[in-house]
Amino acid sequence: MKQTKTILALAAFLSAIGIAKAASDEPISPIKPPASINVGMVELGKKLYFDPRLSKSGFISCNSCHNLSMGGTDNIQTSIGDKWQQGPINAPTVLNSSLNIAQFWDGRAADLRAQAGGPIANPGEMASSHTLAVDVLSSIPDYVYEFRQVFGKDKIDIEQVTTAIAEFEKILVTPGSRFDLWLLGKKDALSRQEEEGYQLFKNAGCVACHNGEAVGGNSFQKMGLVEPYKAASGAEGRSAVTGADADRFNFKVPTLRNVELTYPYFHDGAANTLTEAVDTMGRLQLGRKFTRTENASIVAFLKTLTGEQPRFQLPILPPSSDQTPRPLPFGK
Ligand code: HEC
Ligand code: HEC
Repeated sequence: MKQTKTILALAAFLSAIGIAKAASDEPISPIKPPASINVGMVELGKKLYFDPRLSKSGFISCNSCHNLSMGGTDNIQTSIGDKWQQGPINAPTVLNSSLNIAQFWDGRAADLRAQAGGPIANPGEMASSHTLAVDVLSSIPDYVYEFRQVFGKDKIDIEQVTTAIAEFEKILVTPGSRFDLWLLGKKDALSRQEEEGYQLFKNAGCVACHNGEAVGGNSFQKMGLVEPYKAASGAEGRSAVTGADADRFNFKVPTLRNVELTYPYFHDGAANTLTEAVDTMGRLQLGRKFTRTENASIVAFLKTLTGEQPRFQLPILPPSSDQTPRPLPFGK
């Protein structure tokens, strides 16, 4: 909006490594920094992302389940919600989620703004309500001031909250991975084994689903194409949104960016290691059993997709006021 600022980091990054043009004939493309962001809105969104007062307990923030010190995930099979409730599905990373065609495993939220309202009011996650969350924020003078600065309106509403969080999430992209450097022409960025792993990833057919900037995130595909997958949970996938039987067990293809950090794997979080996930993908999606050496080289390649993690100062949150509704960590 007012403070829209163009980010020139990519140009700087490219010139720093002395490369002018990107490789264009590969099915995977390097991650670009966000084209433009509203700096004031990002700062506000960052505070909201880390603020546990958006939950009923006053204890759970977005960062509880999408921990930015751990690849934007919680690294557990399924998340822990309000009053230690067991979540139904594995938490995907928020890193590079701005590149997804839609949000959630079944794509039920069109974009990050539509997504961000969900967990706040989900009884199994943050268990607050949009009204309560807005009441809490409106009782905190520094927030009232900051929202007015950013949105130019007298009253805080939930759309402003989700818009600010989504703007913050735009900066959670991870350029600069070794694989991207290789794509950009730095041929010694990968070891021989890693490069072999990439060739195998392409030749075996993994790139049919895992491609583009995020190495995934851009289509819905059946889990268990060649051989059925025995899931550890009841999620039915895309058909929950479309109602179409043909979409049963179709899930959004996860990004493989930073996959080294985002264990455990699959929508039910059933695979603990990359070795296991690669073996399952080979057999179930492609009807191919990789040898131990082949599996190891694909895993080595996948680890080169770890990019620069977002770096910023931890926000200091404004204190509650005497009027702020009290947190309810133990129920009513
Ligand atoms: C209690 C844990 C928990 C909390 C708190 C939580 N999330 Fe999530 N998040 C999840 C889970 C689990 C999913 C996957 C749900 C699904 O696909 O059905 C998810 C999905 C997402 C996605 C979609 C990513 C993708 O690739 O589809 C985004 C983005 C996201 N959350 C952001 C947020 C934000 C922003 C907040 C705070 C407002 C938040 N989450 C709070 C657990 C949590
Ligand atoms: C037909 C499309 C398709 C093909 C081909 C495919 N994948 Fe996948 N991949 C998916 C889908 C869909 C998921 C999510 C499945 C789920 O969670 O139920 C996934 C998940 C993964 C995951 C787990 C990521 C996470 O965060 O949970 C890894 C790792 C992975 N794939 C690697 C590979 C590799 C390596 C190959 C080639 C051997 C491959 N995939 C081939 C569609 C595909």
